[in-house]
Amino acid sequence: MKLLVTGGAGLLGSEFVRAAHQRDGWDVEAPSRTEMDITDASACARVVAAASPDWVIHCAGFTKVDPAESEPDEAMRVNRDGSANVAHAAAAAGAGIVHVSTDYVFDGRKGKPYLSEDPVSPLGAYARSKVAAEEAVLASVGAGRTPCLIVRTGWLYGHGRRDFVDLVLDRTAAGESLRIVNDQWGRPTWTRNVARTVLDLIEAGVRGVVNVSDGGTATWHAFATAIVEAGGLRDVPEGVSSRDYGAPAERPLYTVLDLAATEGELGREMMPWREALSTYLDERSSA
Ligand SMILES: NC(=O)c1ccc[n+]([C@@H]2O[C@H](COP(=O)([O-])OP(=O)(O)OC[C@H]3O[C@@H](n4cnc5c(N)ncnc54)[C@H](OP(=O)(O)O)[C@@H]3O)[C@@H](O)[C@H]2O)c1
Repeated sequence: MKLLVTGGAGLLGSEFVRAAHQRDGWDVEAPSRTEMDITDASACARVVAAASPDWVIHCAGFTKVDPAESEPDEAMRVNRDGSANVAHAAAAAGAGIVHVSTDYVFDGRKGKPYLSEDPVSPLGAYARSKVAAEEAVLASVGAGRTPCLIVRTGWLYGHGRRDFVDLVLDRTAAGESLRIVNDQWGRPTWTRNVARTVLDLIEAGVRGVVNVSDGGTATWHAFATAIVEAGGLRDVPEGVSSRDYGAPAERPLYTVLDLAATEGELGREMMPWREALSTYLDERSSA
C-alpha cells in the first residue's frame, strides 16, 4: 500500500508518515509545502500523478483557529480550494482520499455525542472553511469510483510539532500561571491513535464520514490539569469560562464525537484519553 501524505511535516501528518513506515508492506511519500503547495492545482496534479499512491492522506491546511478570524479568505483558499485541488489530483491519479476534518464543524449545542450524520453548524471562520473543505472534497470525488474517507477528529497532541501539551508543560515549568477554559468539552486525542486507526479503517474498506478520537471526555482545564500532574508539576491551572478567556474565535462548548460506529468497524474500543496521555508522556520522558 502506498500513501502520499500532505502536511507531512505537521502534527498529525508526521504521525501518518511514522505509522505507515511501521507497517510491513506500506510505503509513504510526504511532499513538502514547497514541493506541493495545495493551493496550486497543477502542482497537486503533477506530484500526486508522479507518486501514483493508492491513497492520499490529506492533512495540510490552515489550522490556526484564532488567526482564521482575521484571515477568513486565506483560510477558505487553503482549506476549501486546496482540499478540492488535492481531491481532484487523487481522483485523477486513481487514488483514494482521506480528508482530515474537525469536530468544530458542529456548534456544540447538541449536548450529547455527535454522530457523523448530524447536521453541521460551524461557529467561526476556521470551522466554516473546514465545512467548505468537506463539501469540496465530496464534490471533487463526486459519485465516481474514488474511495473517500472524511475523518473528523479534534483536540490533537503528539510528537512532531509544538502543541497544547508542550504549552502547558513549558509554561507551568517556567512558573507562569495558566488560565485554561473549563466549559468546553471534547476528547483529547493522541495523533498516533488517529493515524493507526485511519490506516486500520482503510484496510477494513470503510468509506464515508467517520469520527476518530480517543475515548472519554474532558474540558481543556481537566486535560491541562492531567498534563501538569503527569509531569510531576504542582501548579494546577486556573479554570476560566470561555467568555472570560475571550479568545478571538468562538468555539463550540461540546464537541464529543460519538465513537460507536467507528469502534464497530474496528472491532475494538478507542484508547481512553488518560491512558493515551500517560503513554505519550512516558515515551517523551524516556526519549
Ligand atoms: N490540531 C488539532 O487539534 C486538530 C483538530 C481537528 C482537526 N485537525 C485537522 O487535522 C489536520 C492536520 O492538522 P495539524 O494539527 O497536524 O496541523 P499542523 O501541525 O498545523 O500542520 C499543517 C500542515 O499543513 C501544511 N500546510 C499549510 N498550508 C499549506 C499549503 N498551502 N500547502 C501545503 N501544505 C500546507 C503545513 O506546512 P508547514 O510545515 O510548512 O507549516 C503543515 O505541515 C488539519 O486538516 C486540521 O484542520 C487538527
